[in-house]
Amino acid sequence: MKDLVNPNVLELIPYKPGKPVEELRREHRLERIVKLASNENPFPVPQNVVDAVNREISHFNFYPENDSYYLRHRIAEYNGIDAENVIVGAGSVQLIRMIVSTFLKPGETVLTSQKTFLMYRISATEAGGKSAFIEAPMGRDYMYDMDALYDLVDDKTKIIFIANPNNPTGTMVPRQVMMDFITKIPDDKIIVLDNAYQEYVHHPEDYPDAKEEALNRKNLIVLRTFSKIYALAGLRVGYAVANDEVLAYLNRLKPPFNVTRAAQAAALASLENEDFKRWSASLNVENKAKLYQQLKEMGMEVIPSETNFLCFFPGVDTVELNQRLLKEGIIIRPLHAFGVPEGIRVTVGFEEDNDFFIEKLTKVLEEM
Ligand SMILES: Cc1ncc(COP(=O)(O)O)c(C=O)c1O
Repeated sequence: MKDLVNPNVLELIPYKPGKPVEELRREHRLERIVKLASNENPFPVPQNVVDAVNREISHFNFYPENDSYYLRHRIAEYNGIDAENVIVGAGSVQLIRMIVSTFLKPGETVLTSQKTFLMYRISATEAGGKSAFIEAPMGRDYMYDMDALYDLVDDKTKIIFIANPNNPTGTMVPRQVMMDFITKIPDDKIIVLDNAYQEYVHHPEDYPDAKEEALNRKNLIVLRTFSKIYALAGLRVGYAVANDEVLAYLNRLKPPFNVTRAAQAAALASLENEDFKRWSASLNVENKAKLYQQLKEMGMEVIPSETNFLCFFPGVDTVELNQRLLKEGIIIRPLHAFGVPEGIRVTVGFEEDNDFFIEKLTKVLEEM
C-alpha cells in the first residue's frame, strides 16, 4: 500500500489536535472534564447566532452560496474594504492549504519560524515534501525573530508564514518591526500574516493588523478566523484579505460550497454582536491575569501572552504530566509537536475551570 501513497504525504507528520472531551469521557470514567487545549472561547455561542443558525436549518437541503456572498460582503463592510478583497474558507486552515497549493512551485520553499502553528509545516510538506519547509530559529523571548527569518530568505523562498500573535508562545511582533520586515521582502514572495488571535491583543495601537497593506501590496495575505473570539470553532469559518489578483488565483482552488450554510449564517450573525466580542476579550484579560499569577506562584516560568492561552514550563516531563492530568479530567496541550517539549499550553477558560486546572496541576506535580 505504502508505495501507492504520494511520498510527500509519507513525509508529513499529521496534525494531532487536543483530545476532545467526548474521547476522554469514553476512555476514563470522570465526573468532570475541563478542556483547555485548543484555544477555544469558553462562552457558548450567543443567542443571536443560535437564532440565525436555527432560521437556516430548514434550507439545509440546498447547497450554500458558493462564494459566501453575503458573508463576504459583510466581512468587507466590517473591515472597511471591498468584497473582492475577501475570500472565505472552512476555517483559516483551509486557506493556508490553498495558499500553499496555489503558489508553491517545485523546488520552492515555505519559510516560517520554529515553535509556531503546525499547519504551515504540514501544508508545505504536503505540497513539496520535507525539503520544502524551512524554519528560522525563534527569538530568545519566544518571539518570532524577524532578523533570523529575513536572513533565511533566498531565491527559493516563495511563501513566508507569520503567526501574529504566535501559537503556541502567545507573543506578538509589534507593528514597526513587522512593517520593516514586509517592506524588505521582494514582490515575488508571498507573505502570510496569520492574525487568528488579533482580537485578544492587549495593545491594538502597536499591532500590525496589516489589512491596508494587504490591499496595497501584491504579495501580502492576511488571515482571520471566527474560531477564537467569535466562538465558532465548531463551524469552521475563516477568511483572507488580499489584493484582488492574489484572490483570483486562490479562488481557483476553492472547493465548491466550502463554507456550510450554518457556518455562513453564524458568522454573519456574529459580526452583529460586538458586545459578545467585548465580553469575551475582557473575561480573557481578567482570567488570564489570575491564571498567570497562579502559575507564577507555583514557581513556573510563564510567557506573557497577547492571546487567549498561556505557555508555561512546569519543569517536569510534560508527556507524563499530560497523562496524569488527563486521568484527572484536565485536557491541556503538551508542546512536543511544536518543538517546545518542555512547555505546556493552556487555554484561558472560565475562572472555575482554570481553578480546577490549577488544583489538579498542583496535585499531580506533588505526586510526580
Ligand atoms: C495561528 C493559528 N492560525 C490558524 C488557526 C486555525 O484556525 P481555524 O479554526 O480558522 O482553521 C489556529 C488555531 O488554533 C491558530 O492557532
